[in-house]
Amino acid sequence: MAVDLLLGLQWGDEGKGKIVDVLTSNYNIIARFQGGPNAGHTLVFNGMKHVLHTIPSGIFHDDAVNLVGNGVVIDPVIFKRELDKLEEQNVDYRSKLIISRKAHLILPTHRLLDAASEAAKGKAKIGSTLKGIGPTYMDKTGRNGIRVGDIELKGWKKRYRNLANKHEAMISFHNVDIQYDLDELENEFFEALEVLKSLTFIDSEEYIFQAIKSGKSILAEGAQGSLLDIDFGTYPFVTSSNTTAAGACTGLGIAPNKIGDVFGIFKAYTTRVGSGPFPTELFDEDGETMARVGQEFGATTGRPRRCGWLDLVALKYACQVNGVTQLMMMKADVLSGFDKIKVCTSYQYKGEAIWHFPFNIDPENVTPNYIEMPGWSEDLTEMDDISQLPKTLNDYIDFLEKELDTPIKIVSVGPDRKQTIFR
Ligand code: GDP
Ligand code: IMO
Ligand code: MG
Repeated sequence: MAVDLLLGLQWGDEGKGKIVDVLTSNYNIIARFQGGPNAGHTLVFNGMKHVLHTIPSGIFHDDAVNLVGNGVVIDPVIFKRELDKLEEQNVDYRSKLIISRKAHLILPTHRLLDAASEAAKGKAKIGSTLKGIGPTYMDKTGRNGIRVGDIELKGWKKRYRNLANKHEAMISFHNVDIQYDLDELENEFFEALEVLKSLTFIDSEEYIFQAIKSGKSILAEGAQGSLLDIDFGTYPFVTSSNTTAAGACTGLGIAPNKIGDVFGIFKAYTTRVGSGPFPTELFDEDGETMARVGQEFGATTGRPRRCGWLDLVALKYACQVNGVTQLMMMKADVLSGFDKIKVCTSYQYKGEAIWHFPFNIDPENVTPNYIEMPGWSEDLTEMDDISQLPKTLNDYIDFLEKELDTPIKIVSVGPDRKQTIFR
């Protein structure tokens, strides 16, 4: 059977966690393929809110296996905290959570190095979540990293020490004031590592290969969003992994011809957290309304998210790069009450209108060209059938489907699992 992918099409926080949870009953395996605890995936059901960082969003379902793939970077300390929370909810994760031996570990000094590197950048900082993501992927591609499978072998602690020493030298090279107590951080790290060790480690590419062969259904869960992709995002204001469809192949060991549907998730407007260009960003009351009604605060860092109108130039680009086959539009309820809704359909780039996503989208090069559509005032949050949606919202959806040449199969009208309308 083919592997379906679910990916964010904007700058993250599109609502991936919610939809993975909604779709999990259709799948045997839910697999994360990249990113790490920089992600914050929110699930709401039975009056409870859960935020997952590294653990796949299928974990609350009894029948699905949840796999943390080789492309993911794991901070054992954060992972343990996630497990503790699951335990509090009486979730029996041991029977259904498996981890790739090839996933890389985030060390305490990776986190410190992230902080030092950001501090040294000053105003030019990326706005990283400071979870050590960049330094860990740097060590992976630099062939210095420590992987989950290493901790089952002898002698890895010597490699650990050498690497941590090197990181300390790099931290002092940055010449910024970072206070830390490495002994304390390492105690916490090694303690958490013992918990990680008590879970099931697997050779995940073999596991996936056999699962596909035996007809199991698999959903690959993306983290971050396409515009944060290391190659195709708004570099350097991106994360350090391939968040786009190809990342699922390398992050799980899935051959490209085994990919089935690609579900692309987007908000009915746009948000971004951290630094970097954002052509449709609003600095007015409309932006404030989106942030307030949409409760736009980061699920990992609590930072306010920047808000703006939907950017179709960027969205089309993301659909192209990922080969999206079905779209899911989130947070339609947040736009209720806007008289007019704006959509950016082209960029004004060096005096000319362009329809493709250019190399550079800094404000001095790009300004958005908008069309305006009538809004809707109805409260959508109690609606559960497409026939109840206001005509102006249906017009908005039809317009987007036509522009993106891809069907919008889900319209989400609230954070709860149940507030999901299928089309
Ligand atoms: P993810 O990183 O893509 O999983 O998304 P996050 O969990 O970081 O952010 C999405 C936020 O929007 C969370 O607080 C969700 O509970 C919330 N959310 C998801 N879908 C909807 C929706 O349709 N309407 C509203 N109002 N909130 C939603
Ligand atoms: P989910 O999976 C939104 C952003 C950070 C920063 C940049 C680099 O919840 O959608 P990093 O910590 O990766 O070095 O940060 O990427 N970022 C996210 N923004 N959602 C996320 O994940 C993000 N993960 C990283 O804010 O701008
Ligand atoms: Mg998030």
